[in-house]
Amino acid sequence: MCGIVGYNGSENAAEILLEGLAKLEYRGYDSAGLAVRNGTNDVEIVKAKGRLRVLAEKTNDGKALKGTLGIGHTRWATHGEPSENNAHPHISDDRNVVGVHNGIIENYQELKEKLLRHDYTFYSNTDTEIAIKLIDYYMKKYQEGPVDSIARAMMRIKGSYALAVMFKDYPEELYVARKDSPMVIGIAEGATFVASDVPAILKHTRTVYYIGNQQIAKIGKGTAEFYDIDREPIQLEAEEVTWDAEAAEKGGFEHFMIKEIHEQPKAVRDTISSFVKDGNIDLSEAGLSEADLAAVRSVIIVACGSAYHVGLAGQYVMEKMARIPVRVELASEFRYRDPILCADDLVIVISQSGETADSLAALRLAKEKGVPTLGIVNVVGSSIAREADRVFYTLAGPEIAVATTKAYSAQLAAVYALAIQLAAVRKQINEEEYHDLIAELQELPAKMDRVLEDKERIQWFAAKYSNAKDMFFIGRGIDYAISMEGSLKMKEISYVHSEAYAAGELKHGTISLVEEGTLVVGVCTQNGLFEKTRSNMAEVKTRGAYLMGLTSYGNYAIEDTADFTVYIPRTSEYFATSLAIIPLQLLGYYLSVARGLNVDKPRNLAKSVTVE
Ligand code: AGP
Repeated sequence: MCGIVGYNGSENAAEILLEGLAKLEYRGYDSAGLAVRNGTNDVEIVKAKGRLRVLAEKTNDGKALKGTLGIGHTRWATHGEPSENNAHPHISDDRNVVGVHNGIIENYQELKEKLLRHDYTFYSNTDTEIAIKLIDYYMKKYQEGPVDSIARAMMRIKGSYALAVMFKDYPEELYVARKDSPMVIGIAEGATFVASDVPAILKHTRTVYYIGNQQIAKIGKGTAEFYDIDREPIQLEAEEVTWDAEAAEKGGFEHFMIKEIHEQPKAVRDTISSFVKDGNIDLSEAGLSEADLAAVRSVIIVACGSAYHVGLAGQYVMEKMARIPVRVELASEFRYRDPILCADDLVIVISQSGETADSLAALRLAKEKGVPTLGIVNVVGSSIAREADRVFYTLAGPEIAVATTKAYSAQLAAVYALAIQLAAVRKQINEEEYHDLIAELQELPAKMDRVLEDKERIQWFAAKYSNAKDMFFIGRGIDYAISMEGSLKMKEISYVHSEAYAAGELKHGTISLVEEGTLVVGVCTQNGLFEKTRSNMAEVKTRGAYLMGLTSYGNYAIEDTADFTVYIPRTSEYFATSLAIIPLQLLGYYLSVARGLNVDKPRNLAKSVTVE
């Protein structure tokens, strides 16, 4: 996810563009850049690695760049590490076409090879540079205008994009196009604004056009003309934005956390699309061949917090599916206990930020011991990503809320992919089972959307329990891993003391804590364990607990025991975590809201724990 801005008017574009980018930094902030038409038929481009303030300092807050037409970009790297070279805007070799992009071009390799065959060269590692040069290629090949050239490129690009593009021979115009990535066009007197999201233009206008998928716009000074992909002119209706700036930054949601909970289907869909190619799992981008996986004797997953809970779920999935020994360790323990590792182990370090001190130390320890390492990381170019032997990037986009949700879900997708591929190379699943699992994996985002439709019931239940003092989450197997994450969400954002417990272990002491009204959440997604866990739920119910059940549609017997039940769509039991975690995220969120707490920035916590 990145932030795009564009301006065509009579004021100094660079200053307006920087202001707009500042409102979009939540969409990405590892590098930024501007391109401004300076009255000649060339552009002036300035880019900088790091937060937006670095670019602002470099351009004297935009004053050093003269011109009334320009584009800007704040980046969240998906292809190519954060660097000045990879920062947008990107420009064709003869400076004919310059542009910025938000999205993921899935067939960038194929398009790059095509352009290389036509003597194009590349200076960056980004998919965006390829898109810009593809537009240039079509403009030269067919000798047509900007709309035609962009339309031809759109026909060839697979994936998602929002593009803002300027052309050397059209010094008064800006062109935009989109598919699946957001883009809004604001119209004011004598000036037109373009942005990935409303916050960037609200200061100037509330009159906007939302161009549709595979539509193109020609942006003049206070004007916009629209075309479809067939280059036919189309009419769009202007709309008035009613949001205030703060609400707009959160996409109309009250908090980043609830916004990111709702972004989980997209985060999982984008991550899956990065490794499922033509119906097969392809881990080549993570540098993992089938031979590499076949050589792995055992897996050690090391992480902290929610990432550790992904590892717990992954252990059950990998061991059951691939029949490979898997152990999961807290990074803060692993790094000090001189673990026993073998050269044919694989140490997997899971980390959203890629900067967690304990996880980074664990990675370095594994490398000192000569053990192959793999990072599952959400931030391109982060320390763990750079130092691991191999890295599997999740595509959750920037996660602003301290409590992780969409990154956790994207990490699960990455772990499922590894499990399926390990099972295949170890001949634990046949061809049909392999493709059935992949098909089910690709169904997950839609099923996650269905779970989110049930959020009002969770909100009602959370309000009912907003004064809870103690809470237990119990489950067996994968349901225990789910309980661990549900409990952490509850603790870290609603400050309710809660504990996750292996349901079968309760009677060995902890059940003594259960008293009249204690809330216990029983997680029962694993059919083979359903009756076992349900009997544990009955045990705590006889001691006065109030029971919330969480299970798949069809397991209605749970209502004989639970006082309140939440159902999730059926899916492979391997992937149940991805659906069951959503009601628990919502429960923690709504309870925090009911208690009037700072959901996005809970007390005592940081988004990335870069110290011991
Ligand atoms: C999860 O909601 C917390 N923010 C925290 O447990 C987090 O998962 C942990 O600090 C690990 O962070 P990382 O994934 O960036 O390494």
